[in-house]
Amino acid sequence: LVASLEQVEQTYIMVKPDGVQRGLVGEIISRLERKGFKLTGLKLFQCHKELAEEHYKDLKTKSFYPTLIDYITSGPVVCMVWEGVGVVASARKLIGSTNPLQAEPGTIRGDLAVQTGRNVVHGSDSPENGKRETALWFKEGELCEWTPAQAPWLM
Ligand code: TYD
Repeated sequence: LVASLEQVEQTYIMVKPDGVQRGLVGEIISRLERKGFKLTGLKLFQCHKELAEEHYKDLKTKSFYPTLIDYITSGPVVCMVWEGVGVVASARKLIGSTNPLQAEPGTIRGDLAVQTGRNVVHGSDSPENGKRETALWFKEGELCEWTPAQAPWLM
């Protein structure tokens, strides 16, 4: 039942400015928390343009890129790191499809959003990006290694 260290993944989850403005921070944290993943980093943060551009560098050639950068930097975001076995794919499942109209009910975007350009939350799309994005948004001392008391029941 106890996960080996190699199986444990890290994912970067971010409540986007619309999620913060709409008061959905608690709801989003709650869904990941109830699933049983471990929170190891958390902060409210005003993202600057350079960081947003680095985070979304793979989308640089897309027509929506400038709008996306403006959106992400338009107000504070909530940055989080979650850890667990299979957390990257599982968090993506909890988040739902990029276009909220195609996201299944029961997912965060399926329940709480309408527009692709206002889809309330980000989640890393691979374990590699989970590590890359964690390193991009958090300094080392900002992350917390800890053992949840209920770990033996969930992991
Ligand atoms: P992407 O990485 O494709 O989706 P996801 O966030 O589900 O991993 O795109 C990043 C963000 O870019 C997406 O969350 C919202 C925005 N976006 C648009 O504004 N328009 C689009 O057509 C797409 C594909 C994405």
